[in-house]
Amino acid sequence: MGYPEDLDHWRRAARIAAEARELGVSLVVPGAERRFVAEAIEDFIRTEGAQPAFPANLSRNDEAAHYTPGPEDVAAFRAGDLVKVDVGAHLDGAIADTAETVEVGGTHRLDNLVRAARDGLAAGIAAVRPGVRVNDVSRAIASAIHARGLKPIENLTGHSIERYLLHAGKAIPNVPGFSDATLAEGEVIAIEPFATNGAGSIGNGPFGNIQRFRADPGAKDPELARLFGRFRTLPFTARWIDRPEELEALRRARRTLQTYPVFVERGGGLVAQAEHTILVGPDRAEILSAAPPE
Ligand code: CO
Repeated sequence: MGYPEDLDHWRRAARIAAEARELGVSLVVPGAERRFVAEAIEDFIRTEGAQPAFPANLSRNDEAAHYTPGPEDVAAFRAGDLVKVDVGAHLDGAIADTAETVEVGGTHRLDNLVRAARDGLAAGIAAVRPGVRVNDVSRAIASAIHARGLKPIENLTGHSIERYLLHAGKAIPNVPGFSDATLAEGEVIAIEPFATNGAGSIGNGPFGNIQRFRADPGAKDPELARLFGRFRTLPFTARWIDRPEELEALRRARRTLQTYPVFVERGGGLVAQAEHTILVGPDRAEILSAAPPE
């Protein structure tokens, strides 16, 4: 495998994703409309010359992931909401995926939970080197979260990333005991611990306005072919589609599409997430989506 040929694309996509994440974090304030925040994040990514790799996820409270506002969403954030700003950008299929958690309104009641996810991420990243067993990364993540008296979500994982494939073959579990894989120099992976004060696992909630093509639908339906040309196998949302003919084509093609449910904590617990896209370097992880200098 080795390093991606166009490593500069991966680095640039990750820098844009990191800036978009920070923008999102700054916009998640009491009274801000969710749809406005999602669109601001996605517009920023396009302005920087990249494309969103998936719709901006703004999951709240016991929602762990996979909620993006729909076209008609007018709901606003409230003080005390725990919001996961999970952002992806890509350049020609070179993808970065990164997330941070915000307690809206700076109420600081959930700092321990937010820090548990960050600690898990830092510990996981610190364990990365070529040849490391994924299981050792997972154990480091879980230990850091347990050290704050909280639980990692056991059925959500980080993932390897390949061109146009957000979730490529390799999972990076947030608890040990699930992986026989090792990491190789040159691999790009996303590490994304979720910490909770609930049961420690998620189940499927309602549709979160995110879907993707499982495969190329072919040329038979020109509307679908156009949409596939635009999104390939990456997740997208109806907010990005203006033409009614295309929305209609998507309704007809439901079997070609994967729809994502919102992931909801099974015990009703609050969930915090932290995520970076990293490159497995010659002797340690390089954080591609690190916060940009002020
Ligand atoms: Co991810």
